Amino acid sequence: MQKKRLLSGIRPTGALHVGHYLGVLRNWAKLQEEHECFYFIADWHTLTTKYKDTNELQNNTIEVAKDIIASGINPNKATLYIQSAVPEVAELHLLLSMITYQNWVERDPTLKDMVKLLAEDENKAKEEVTYGLLGYPVLMTADILSVLGEYVPVGRDQVAHLELTRDIARRFNYIYKTELFPEPQPLLTETPSVPGIDGRKMSKSLNNDIKVIDNEEITIKKVLQMITDPKKARKNDAGSPEECQVAYKHYEIFADKSTQELVRKECTTGAIGCVDCKKRLAEIINNSLSQIRIKRELIPKDSEILEILDIGNGHAKKIVKQTLDKVKDAMKLKKWN
Ligand code: TRP
Ligand code: SF4
Repeated sequence: MQKKRLLSGIRPTGALHVGHYLGVLRNWAKLQEEHECFYFIADWHTLTTKYKDTNELQNNTIEVAKDIIASGINPNKATLYIQSAVPEVAELHLLLSMITYQNWVERDPTLKDMVKLLAEDENKAKEEVTYGLLGYPVLMTADILSVLGEYVPVGRDQVAHLELTRDIARRFNYIYKTELFPEPQPLLTETPSVPGIDGRKMSKSLNNDIKVIDNEEITIKKVLQMITDPKKARKNDAGSPEECQVAYKHYEIFADKSTQELVRKECTTGAIGCVDCKKRLAEIINNSLSQIRIKRELIPKDSEILEILDIGNGHAKKIVKQTLDKVKDAMKLKKWN
């Protein structure tokens, strides 16, 4: 049976943290076994907000490619490519933008949130919003439809974008009387939301993340900074895992059930102090990342990564060009040589 085509992208924000690994990459590695997967690094999407600050973009793109490969995504099974290496996607984006109603884009709640995040002050936010950012979900649509992707593994926050993708696909098919585009479905994976060591959402910019490439010592240091139950001030005080917003939450994410039970017992009876409890947690986190860290160390030189990407870029380009030719046929546009 023909495998279903699946596409997903990740923005190159720099070396990835455990939240990315658990929430995205681990899942990508699983999906490559049962689908025809296209995974890409969405460097253009980064420009929708970070267009002034591009110094790190090239390097971040390569680093993310390394994290992806170290996470078990096999470039021989999945097509791994860079968005900007397939400029035909931009051409598709342009054509799709012509049939996309302005108010469809403006009502996208995730885009509204992104706009809000740009500045607390609503008026300032309006000024900061570029034409490119407004086009974010349309560009995403072009990514997906350019390979005729049927499934799109994404986080909850991206589901609204996918509704727009289906609206655009349907409208294109209707206007140009074709069945070219599928209506792509989200694949929602229930992934844990991983708090940063300070209890806020884990994020590179908040400087509260544990990175995949952090070594064991750095990981231990970071875990020891995690906040715990504030009522458990001394070693032998009884504490409560429910009040331990960060450290225990990480136990729930990384440790097995019996370890969680043990921690609960030791915590509530005051049998263990928070420092020791977090040392053990650091060991568990280090153990579960050891495989990927070893692979990350063994990752070939940049030049070899670029060769791997070249192959993926080439394959993606071929598929996208086929789609674009069909789009032009449907729209009765000339295919110039
Ligand atoms: N917007 C996605 C994110 O921020 C990244 C992305 C870009 C994407 N294009 C995509 C994801 C296409 C899935 C399909 O996580
Ligand atoms: Fe959290 Fe462990 Fe301290 Fe309990 S003993 S509060 S679970 S760090």
